[in-house]
Amino acid sequence: MIKSILSYKCLNSRASWTIRTRVELENGIIACQTVPDGASKGEREAISLPVEQATKNVNTTIASALAGMDPFDQKSIDARLLEIDGTPNKSNLGANSLLSVSLAVAKVAALSMDLPLYEYLKSIYHSPNPLVFPTPLFNILNGGAHARNDLSFQEFMVVPSMGFSYERKVEVGVDCYNALSKKLLENGYSIGVGDEGGFAPHEFTAPKALSYIVDAVSEAGYALGEDVFLGMDVAAGYFYDADEEVYRIKEEDLVLTSEEMVDYYRDLLKDFPIIYLEDPLDENAFDQWSKYHPKLSKNTMLVGDDLVVTNTDELEKALSPQAIDGVIVKPNQIGTLTETLDFVRMAQNSEQVITVSHRSGETAEDTFIADLALAIGAEFVKFGAPARGERVVKYNRILDVYHHEK
Ligand code: PGA
Ligand code: ZN
Repeated sequence: MIKSILSYKCLNSRASWTIRTRVELENGIIACQTVPDGASKGEREAISLPVEQATKNVNTTIASALAGMDPFDQKSIDARLLEIDGTPNKSNLGANSLLSVSLAVAKVAALSMDLPLYEYLKSIYHSPNPLVFPTPLFNILNGGAHARNDLSFQEFMVVPSMGFSYERKVEVGVDCYNALSKKLLENGYSIGVGDEGGFAPHEFTAPKALSYIVDAVSEAGYALGEDVFLGMDVAAGYFYDADEEVYRIKEEDLVLTSEEMVDYYRDLLKDFPIIYLEDPLDENAFDQWSKYHPKLSKNTMLVGDDLVVTNTDELEKALSPQAIDGVIVKPNQIGTLTETLDFVRMAQNSEQVITVSHRSGETAEDTFIADLALAIGAEFVKFGAPARGERVVKYNRILDVYHHEK
């Protein structure tokens, strides 16, 4: 039974405060959960409240509503959280408050049963699948809302071949990252990094970023299109001008209609083996996504993040007519573990590829999402560059399980 719940503020990776919640059971077992924070949030994400308000809500309303409840009954815990919040977007108590409690309860339940967290999550997801290790999407060059440079596109990623072991995939990410660092330095660029640990040089465009990465891949000794593929999270909503209905790529002096934006991508897809393309169009343009899906998806997965925001209602809109091939899963876009798993279930039943993702403002000690990825059998994980503690800790968590399970 839940004995007490205590919430307080702690630091995230971006020198800002976030919420940490500690749940204690009658049996004396304790678990803590910290919640990350996005910078390029989707408009339809659940609402997170300022941290002072969020911690207060946990310490008063939520703590008293959950006292005495059964931590093994995650569904009832989450249903109670939704009931006391009483809003569709969690604006009353805050998605950050709710999620810190929801995930801390799952952790403390797993500890009580002496199970690794991924095993416990697997049991509540009722996953019959054997354990599979995901492919990391290493974000090695940053722009958009995550960098103080002039690059509009948010993330440029290397994607190791699915055929490699998990450990080999991490080696590939590290080798490409280090080779890119060297190449940037040799050409007089800064190797300062953005929020997710990728380099954030000035005077770059998307084609230039991809060319540099291609050279780094080959410098690191890998065959592009065989050992290593490319990915991008464009986060296009951030340079979409909704009034004029155009995309403004300022560093290239381009103002593009949706159709021209799609042609821009088609040119890139001809030149580079981009197998993963996240948020290429604005988050409200479901019709455009569906219209252009056949034009872009021949050899490339179109992935919805800001488009579907871990929300089953939004996912439904993206499935028919088909707008996407895969989804991003971020528990703090929706606010409870049960809703996150419901979203994953709907996506997997619709044959969507799953990527479990961090946020740009992450927490250095928390690895919940690594266990979540293993529990649901996610094909991909997106934890940023293979650098900076708050990113590395997640890749390492999966390495721990990989070696333990081998
Ligand atoms: P965010 O970005 O965490 O800043 O929202 C991550 C993403 O867009 O994938
Ligand atoms: Zn994204």
